[in-house]
Amino acid sequence: MLGMESVIVREVRISELETVKSINEKVLPENYPLSFYYSIAMEWGDIFLVAEVDGRIVGYMMNRIENHFSVKSFRPGIVRKGHILSIAVLPEFQGKGIGSRLLAEGLKRMRKLHHVDNVYLEVRVSNIMAINFYKKFGFEIKTVIPHYYRDGEDAYLMEIVFTQD
Ligand SMILES: CC(C)(COP(=O)(O)OP(=O)(O)OC[C@H]1O[C@@H](n2cnc3c(N)ncnc32)[C@H](O)[C@@H]1OP(=O)(O)O)[C@@H](O)C(=O)NCCC(=O)NCCS
Repeated sequence: MLGMESVIVREVRISELETVKSINEKVLPENYPLSFYYSIAMEWGDIFLVAEVDGRIVGYMMNRIENHFSVKSFRPGIVRKGHILSIAVLPEFQGKGIGSRLLAEGLKRMRKLHHVDNVYLEVRVSNIMAINFYKKFGFEIKTVIPHYYRDGEDAYLMEIVFTQD
């Protein structure tokens, strides 16, 4: 049994980006060149997280902050939003709370360090496990993005809005 005290969630190191890329390729069909991981780590290093168990990287969460133009908000204009680009845990480590640790820390950091009150993501409409995972944290399905994925599958855009405190 994996004690959660043995899981460390922390910022990625540049030397670990190859490992993160290999986890992504094992777990998700949406893959990126190393240069993409590198540019996100350089710009958004404090919200690019890994989960470490016994010195081994077993999961990651990659995020960035974006400016969105909104006419719906109280004051129309630019709204800063957190965007979860990718999150994955190695299959043999899934279902043990590691994804939850990554998501909780990533959301906390986007909120506290980058002052966003809105975080969104895209998820395959068939990925019921991930949809439930996000719902548990308070994400809601906002819209369907038709043919978002290269194989033609639709995405749900899911979003969480933090209340002030
Ligand atoms: C989605 C993912 C990151 C979650 O990480 P994880 O470490 O497995 O998640 P946790 O153990 O913290 O579980 C959190 C919740 O996810 C859901 N979940 C996790 N594993 C599950 C499983 N095997 N079956 C059903 N639901 C599951 C449950 O809602 C769970 O809550 P619960 O423990 O209260 O039941 C991970 O499963 C993964 O890498 N999946 C493949 C990649 C992927 O789909 N990424 C998201 C793309 S948008």
